[in-house]
Amino acid sequence: MIDRQFTRIQTKLPGPKSAEVFATKAKYVAAPLETYAPFIVKHAKGAVIEDLDGNRFLDFSGGWGCLAVGQRNERVVAALKDQIDAYLHTDFTAVPYAPFIELAQVLCEHTAIDGPKKAAFFNSGAEAVENAVKIARAYTKRKAVLVFENAFHGRTLLAMTMTHKAKPYKYGFGPFATDVYRLPYPYEYRKSITAKEIEQSLLSLVDPSEVAVMVVEPVIGEGGFLVPPAWFLPAMRQLADKYGFVLALDEVQSGIGRTGKFFAFEHFDMQPDLICVAKSLGSGLPLSGVVGKAQIMDAPVASGIGGTYAGNPLACRAALEVIRAIDEDDLLAEATRVGNRIKDHFHRLAEKYDVIGDVRGLGAMVGMELVTDRVTKEPAKELTSKIATAAMYNGAIFPTAGLQGNVLRVLVSLVISDEQIDEGLRILESAFESALG
Ligand SMILES: Cc1ncc(COP(=O)(O)O)c(C=O)c1O
Repeated sequence: MIDRQFTRIQTKLPGPKSAEVFATKAKYVAAPLETYAPFIVKHAKGAVIEDLDGNRFLDFSGGWGCLAVGQRNERVVAALKDQIDAYLHTDFTAVPYAPFIELAQVLCEHTAIDGPKKAAFFNSGAEAVENAVKIARAYTKRKAVLVFENAFHGRTLLAMTMTHKAKPYKYGFGPFATDVYRLPYPYEYRKSITAKEIEQSLLSLVDPSEVAVMVVEPVIGEGGFLVPPAWFLPAMRQLADKYGFVLALDEVQSGIGRTGKFFAFEHFDMQPDLICVAKSLGSGLPLSGVVGKAQIMDAPVASGIGGTYAGNPLACRAALEVIRAIDEDDLLAEATRVGNRIKDHFHRLAEKYDVIGDVRGLGAMVGMELVTDRVTKEPAKELTSKIATAAMYNGAIFPTAGLQGNVLRVLVSLVISDEQIDEGLRILESAFESALG
């Protein structure tokens, strides 16, 4: 029996009320929109979700990494209510509003890049990535885009092309965008590589005078929670300077406090030119942005970037409160606390279960890679899914990641308490027990 204070499983899953809604989903919602959880949410607060049938779950997926400040953070909810009573939408480029401009200022002030900075807002992470490429192309007047193995950048045509994993993200969706070149990545658990080898790979793929931008996740998210060695990002900075291209970091998953710094790149000795942000910035409202060096951000022609809903006022108000919460509630320190506690649990599990090949992470972005054998490092995809499913049916939601789907990862709200972490990890441990028989 698991000692429980926050979770409760009182029906089989899905419970009867959720099952009824799933039956309607099967009939009317397009089949590719497969869902991870076997229940329908009714209510959520902090890191806890309650379903229509009264079951309660600890959510270590945090809305796929969007809820750094927690579900229905009080500051965010109050600002949204206030904004609803004022106005909902104008399109910033038709009738501008102050929250967009305030957010640009606050985001620039939180961006550790020297010199003048500017920001632009969009709706999704993929759009931020697309726009970073557009901005870099307009600035450099070049066209090629460099990306990395294991990268995930989104599902639009260019972002999908830039993404590595074929199935499900690219399968059946070609032809893809042109001028995208993929470089090897230092996946330390499996493959070491040098800066020189990355440069040689670049030179063999494309003439560097044609490269507009290199886009890289400072900690790879969907691709398996890969933290690069300390030399990697500074070396990519040097390549960008040597060949005159823009260095854009995709911090959609790693940014906004998740790693214990406002941006993950601050852990490394370098500065990028552009940064893509989304997910936790809007605390669940659709909001993304590109922030970076002013002379690069200003390069496209007037009206060359934008969008009808881009930087919607509700989302901007939410984001202002997210950043306020990070500053005033010391959420960067909380990310470190949460990450250390979860990592300690993961290391303890690794001593007990030799299917855990690697435990890694930065701040609260923590993952473990599962293998069938610690010597051959054969990815244990089915076992990973079995463990995640067992944990879910027992009250804790843990997402998976990796090209082989063999990484269990944590994208939990940074406001989760120690007691909640411990309960979630007890559930995960019992999932290991049941999956390993
Ligand atoms: C690093 C990274 N970039 C881009 C995206 C795409 O974001 P969105 O799904 O909002 O388009 C994601 C989503 O998981 C991501 O993790």
